[in-house]
Amino acid sequence: MNRQTPETNLRQSLLQKLEDLQRAGVTHLGHASPQPPIAAESNAERGSQPNNHDRDLKILAQEVATCDRCQELATSRNQTVFGVGNPHARLCFLGEAPGAEEDRQGKPFVGRAGKLLTDILEKGMGISRSDVYIFNILKCRPPGNRNPHPEESENCRTFLDRQLAIIAPEFICCLGAVAAHNLLNTTTPIGKLRGTFHDYLGIRVVCTYHPAYLLRNPSAKKSTWEDIQLLMDAMNIEKPNIKKP
Ligand code: URA
Ligand code: URA
Repeated sequence: MNRQTPETNLRQSLLQKLEDLQRAGVTHLGHASPQPPIAAESNAERGSQPNNHDRDLKILAQEVATCDRCQELATSRNQTVFGVGNPHARLCFLGEAPGAEEDRQGKPFVGRAGKLLTDILEKGMGISRSDVYIFNILKCRPPGNRNPHPEESENCRTFLDRQLAIIAPEFICCLGAVAAHNLLNTTTPIGKLRGTFHDYLGIRVVCTYHPAYLLRNPSAKKSTWEDIQLLMDAMNIEKPNIKKP
């Protein structure tokens, strides 16, 4: 750690808490393990679980909405894009940063790439967007959709880690190199990271191509389908009886 700000302290203590819990044998925070298959439980049942994930996420989202740590992003954004989906999700999808449409709507993955992600979920996995949680490394749109600067990712990291500490998923799917490199603190190319599981604080991580990359390079869909099947097998999700996207 090169900087000791209140934020890095907070992050460190959150991560420490997660590690302590894992050492104590708690492997699935917020869940009564083992978990049923993702689609076996209705959202109403999930929503009735006696905990405060939803409330905690809303409080954090309000903090994010007024964040001005990255001056350029805070002045150029229409709004922050916090994340959407199931506060108790077993599986999170992590992207890079909001684009123009996400910045307009305040929701992640609602543009063209988002449509493909929805197809992967619904047609490929047989689950819905509201079963999983979807969010990004950066909560603000970088002007012109440039890549996040390292200091921007660092500024935003506490929000990501706090989201993960609240949701406590068992699985994360990183969409694209920026998400994978930031989460796992590596520079290994996405083509080498994909196809296998990685670990982040006890959460099992699969990295695959970004849906925007798949739109430009449809031949890579085959690899992403393999990565999704890896996830489905580990999660015990049965393959739907419909054609893959
Ligand atoms: N691309 C991303 O990485 N995230 C979004 O939310 C939309 C597009
Ligand atoms: N490069 C990226 O940044 N993302 C991909 O998904 C593939 C190549």
